[in-house]
Amino acid sequence: MKIWAHRGCSQRYPENTILAFEKAMEVERLTGIELDIQLTKDKELVVIHDERVDRTTEGIGFVRDYTLSELKKLHIYADINPSQSIPTMDEVLDVLEERLKKGMLLNIELKTGMYPYLGIEERVVELVHKRRVEHSIIYSSFYAKSLEKIYQLDREVQIGILDSKVSDCMYKLKGCEGIRALHPFWKGLDLSTEELAGYDVRAWFTGHLYPEKPTGTKLDISVLENQGVTDIFLNEPERYLE
Ligand code: G3P
Ligand code: CA
Repeated sequence: MKIWAHRGCSQRYPENTILAFEKAMEVERLTGIELDIQLTKDKELVVIHDERVDRTTEGIGFVRDYTLSELKKLHIYADINPSQSIPTMDEVLDVLEERLKKGMLLNIELKTGMYPYLGIEERVVELVHKRRVEHSIIYSSFYAKSLEKIYQLDREVQIGILDSKVSDCMYKLKGCEGIRALHPFWKGLDLSTEELAGYDVRAWFTGHLYPEKPTGTKLDISVLENQGVTDIFLNEPERYLE
């Protein structure tokens, strides 16, 4: 089973921060890192899961209503570690670029389901090409139109079809020549192993997030492997690769 860090090492460190990504890079045998992107008022790509800043910072309101310099004034609590700020996609690539060029993978999830964020697809594809890391990037989004735009911008892209149920991922895949990657929720495995054979099935496990304390429970990933899952996104990947 290939193990990914979901929003970085997001059980022990604050999700989608440079700290969480640096910790993920310390995990031996990690296949890749997953992160989420949104667009600021001044059209900068930022790495944050929610459309609002409220849950992860002391701020209030929507990411799209903040300029980048306003967002940068907000703090993300990190306990004994220095407080973090919402990173830009560029800052994250500063940290990951070298590893991506050596084979680590990065799943960029475009959070366009609620707001389509005009221009986000162009910006991310341009940045990825500028950094020359396109071969290590897998794009995903719950919003199929975003993936369609990404594909129109770069016919060579790797795309993972994201949905809750694996049957819905498969349904969205129809007519998408060359795409063989499905990203279902780990409890949404409603197709047989035979039906999933030949696909990259990257399941996402939500689990607990920092600052919730680790519970000590460990998912039996061999069960998922027997159901045809090839990869899993975990908040605490370090526990599975010890
Ligand atoms: O990419 C899979 C997963 O990250 C989707 O759920 O809410 O954690 O972004 P969420
Ligand atoms: Ca995500």
